[in-house]
Amino acid sequence: MEIKELIKEFLNIFGGSEDGIRVFASPGRVNLIGEHTDYNGGYVFPAALKMKTTIIMRKRDDNLLRLKATDLDGIVEADINKLDCYKGIPWGDYQIGVAYILQNHGYDICGADLLYDDTVPHGGGLSSSAAIEVSTALMFATLSNEKNGISEPVDMIEMAKLAQQAEHEYAGVNCGIMDQFASAMGKENHALFLDCKDLSYKHVPLELNGRKIVISNTNKKHSLGASKYNERRSQCEEGFAVLKSAMPEKTCLGDITLQELEAHKHLIKDEIVLRRVSHVISEDARVLDAIAALEAGDIPRFGELMNASHDSLRDDYEVTGFELDTMVEEARKISGVLGSRMTGAGFGGCTVSIVESDSVDEFIAEVGKNYEAKTGIKPDFYVTETGDGGKEILL
Ligand code: GLA
Repeated sequence: MEIKELIKEFLNIFGGSEDGIRVFASPGRVNLIGEHTDYNGGYVFPAALKMKTTIIMRKRDDNLLRLKATDLDGIVEADINKLDCYKGIPWGDYQIGVAYILQNHGYDICGADLLYDDTVPHGGGLSSSAAIEVSTALMFATLSNEKNGISEPVDMIEMAKLAQQAEHEYAGVNCGIMDQFASAMGKENHALFLDCKDLSYKHVPLELNGRKIVISNTNKKHSLGASKYNERRSQCEEGFAVLKSAMPEKTCLGDITLQELEAHKHLIKDEIVLRRVSHVISEDARVLDAIAALEAGDIPRFGELMNASHDSLRDDYEVTGFELDTMVEEARKISGVLGSRMTGAGFGGCTVSIVESDSVDEFIAEVGKNYEAKTGIKPDFYVTETGDGGKEILL
């Protein structure tokens, strides 16, 4: 929906006039390569999308937050003095969780009417939750700073960190920093090379020389809350503890090279843990190779590394599953495809492929038909447009 229409809808729901209405937005992301590395202090390479969460808001004079989504019935109400009481509600906990964490960090949370419009598909691995969290954090921090006479712009890296904390403490998902960081700090026509160990980053131009990034949604919903994500995390911690006993100077798996792993892997007795660790360390090396390839204009090499990333996530990390693997297999059969892999946490959600521009129509028709025939699920396709990180949209 256009902003004008959203404001109209806001006024239909909450009444009153347009005076005091403000608009904030933050995007979803697609991760090009570097999966399940962020919580291991490794590298990631996501791009922010044009798909986003938009918030139409107006302050209230009382202590109430009133939240409504454009695609859901009903208004959720929360008291700003009891923000810890809404964990686990069916909708609204991401927003209230962010308000709660910001409040605990000294931000003033004001009463407000809020209309949320999401164009990031829910549960599709494109960070719909980070888009909600980061837009909400930006909004409350902007208003709080104004109230307190702070004129510096909101620190978006801090917003990413607080949004991640809200997901840990309020939503109970032990996620890494990639999604919130990409949503906060992305840049149109660029991907973001982020070192999750120290949060140093660089925007890299996405020059694909006539190729497109196509996202394929398996429409198999993943549930991040599902224990598997946290289970992978603890397997990595277990593997790292063993390696650290031989290399005490290391602080995370991201510090360990493939050569060092080779020299010490006999110490890891659990074969599953060894495969998890091998994925993380090899994936980190692939991110560096992929960025070098992109910067050199070698997109076929970038595609090969995406393929290798998927295969490692399928065989060693075991987070793909039938739908993602089928989508990737069908994509790789199209001659104009340079590379294809799952993106995000896995277990469902989306794949990302680099496709020659004049093969995109064939890709969507053929992969769509064959995927549906094999899985019985109708997929969706998005030819990716990258966008900027979170910001206020001035009216
Ligand atoms: C989810 C998490 C991220 C990251 C990816 C896997 O999207 O939110 O922090 O761990 O999975 O790369």
